[in-house]
Amino acid sequence: MSHVITQACCGDASCVYACPVNCIHPTPEEPDFGIAEMLYIDPATCVDCGACVSACPVGAIFPSHRLPVGQERFAKVNAAQYQHPADWTARFPVDPSRRLPLAPIGHPHQLAVDERVSIGIVGSGPSAMYAADELLRQPQISVTMYERLDRPFGLVRFGVAPDHLNTRKVMRLFDDIARNPRLEILLHTEVGRDITLAELRSRHQGVIWAGGAPTDKPLTLPGIDHVGVSSATSFVGWYNGHPDFTDLDVDLSTERAVVVGNGNVALDVARILVADPESLAETSISQAALAELRRSNVREIVVMGRRGPLHAAFTLPEMIGLVDSGVAVTVDPADLDKASPAAHDLDMTLRAKLDLLAECAARPAPKGRRIRLAFFSSPLEVIAGQDGRACGLRIGRNRPVIDDAGVAAGIETTGETSVLDAGLILTSVGYRGIAVPGLPFDDARGVIPNAEGRVLSGADPVTGMYVTGWIKRGPSGFIGTNKTDSAETVSSLLADLESGRRLH
Ligand SMILES: Cc1cc2nc3c(=O)[nH]c(=O)nc-3n(C[C@H](O)[C@H](O)[C@H](O)COP(=O)(O)OP(=O)(O)OC[C@H]3O[C@@H](n4cnc5c(N)ncnc54)[C@H](O)[C@@H]3O)c2cc1C
Ligand SMILES: NC(=O)c1ccc[n+]([C@@H]2O[C@H](COP(=O)([O-])OP(=O)(O)OC[C@H]3O[C@@H](n4cnc5c(N)ncnc54)[C@H](OP(=O)(O)O)[C@@H]3O)[C@@H](O)[C@H]2O)c1
Ligand code: SF4
Ligand code: SF4
Repeated sequence: MSHVITQACCGDASCVYACPVNCIHPTPEEPDFGIAEMLYIDPATCVDCGACVSACPVGAIFPSHRLPVGQERFAKVNAAQYQHPADWTARFPVDPSRRLPLAPIGHPHQLAVDERVSIGIVGSGPSAMYAADELLRQPQISVTMYERLDRPFGLVRFGVAPDHLNTRKVMRLFDDIARNPRLEILLHTEVGRDITLAELRSRHQGVIWAGGAPTDKPLTLPGIDHVGVSSATSFVGWYNGHPDFTDLDVDLSTERAVVVGNGNVALDVARILVADPESLAETSISQAALAELRRSNVREIVVMGRRGPLHAAFTLPEMIGLVDSGVAVTVDPADLDKASPAAHDLDMTLRAKLDLLAECAARPAPKGRRIRLAFFSSPLEVIAGQDGRACGLRIGRNRPVIDDAGVAAGIETTGETSVLDAGLILTSVGYRGIAVPGLPFDDARGVIPNAEGRVLSGADPVTGMYVTGWIKRGPSGFIGTNKTDSAETVSSLLADLESGRRLH
């Protein structure tokens, strides 16, 4: 017997520090921490003490004999990571573009400054909450948080899917942090509208911008502005009751919807569209979205990736959660056949993903609502009917480009095109940060330029200005990834306070 980490893991590493026998990896000190899709328990060394269970903020850890229905596969997933000696660097040779620039969590540091210090944080999402938690370890520091919405916690409230009940439990941890009397959260206060950044900087000795990446990466296509096309950013905001998206016009009278992109957000959107609305009724889903889903005629949701199965952006835990929750998922076996010939060299996570896709491809065609995972397909044009509404998507077929080592290094078009009928097209090609008036901005990456969280203007740090979360490193990573990220920013801020570099 041993304990097992399951789907909801958001990678905050609390369990690592709770475990008395160091059997949970990768740890934040190991180089693959920022890449791994979850953390894994070594069944051979776990002593079943249960300490990690109490430490986990999202209830992701279970004894192997008590795994919840649909999560049983995770016993194998955890064990598979320990089949070979623990060399985590060799274990995750994934796409370096997905590597997160993270420093390891530092050791607790006691600030050698006597007077009281006030820090402002813009935003109240995970990166803001983790930054506040780190800062409040110093008894001299008090924090004021500025949040533009009427409720705190950013994408944890308005992004995480309503059926991800365990993941949303991380809000309890944030509630605990928010109860600290030295933390004040000012809701309905948008920096740049209700208060200027200059005012903020005059109020506090340091300011951390943690405003996230609130918009979507644009997808430039002929016909993209037709009614019936939306971004996943808007659609997710709509079903989660985000005040900016309550008026979104969502028409689910169509039989087929297409989601462009195949990251975890695309899977969330597809799963909500395919779900039995009654299973969502007791969740935090918005009542307007629930009513629309009850009227829905959507039978098939096509989740479309431009690259092949080897480069699917969704993670293994999310794919397992989808398939083992009973959702009908179909895959064209021909797409799997085109996978790289070097597939036998894959790490365990990728191999398990391919095995799961092969399992889906081998199943008989489902009769009811289904999700179709389509690969090697690029969107070319949105086609509209006479009423001006989107009614289809022209798609270009791609094939993998195999390099000399036999690895699928990229894609190229085959020149074949086809039209997929669909009355709802959702673009889920990633989020994007927006420029903050008064701060430098890296327009190519959609982030505020920084070195270890210190905002940079050219090569020079902007005194007293810091950044964390998605607006610091770009829109990728799990909730817990922001903990390490914020620890890095806070440690830069504390070092600057000690050396006297601050606003006033
Ligand atoms: C659809 C979706 C689902 C996800 N699901 C999961 C999941 O299941 N599990 C998981 O581990 N990770 C998930 N993630 C990833 C996770 O949500 C992010 O890693 C995390 O929220 C990023 O934190 P952040 O603090 O940088 O940004 P955010 O969470 O976006 O927080 C930014 C906050 O700043 C506020 N703000 C912005 N500008 C201003 C301003 N000018 N003044 C005042 N306030 C401002 C915003 O209102 C917001 O509250 C999901 C992401 C998305 C998009
Ligand atoms: N449950 C969870 O843990 C959870 C849930 C939701 C989100 N998240 C996290 O939040 C982060 C953001 O997720 P995301 O899904 O928005 O982003 P993502 O993982 O970066 O996926 C973006 C997708 O869009 C595709 N894409 C980008 N540009 C495109 C273009 N021009 N044409 C066609 N396709 C294009 C990408 O394809 P290429 O790969 O070919 O570029 C990829 O499939 C991720 O780190 C994710 O893991 C986690
Ligand atoms: S049950 Fe105990 S020994 Fe096993 S992983 Fe959790 S903390 Fe470590
Ligand atoms: S969410 Fe955190 S504590 Fe829970 S299993 Fe994942 S890394 Fe460990």
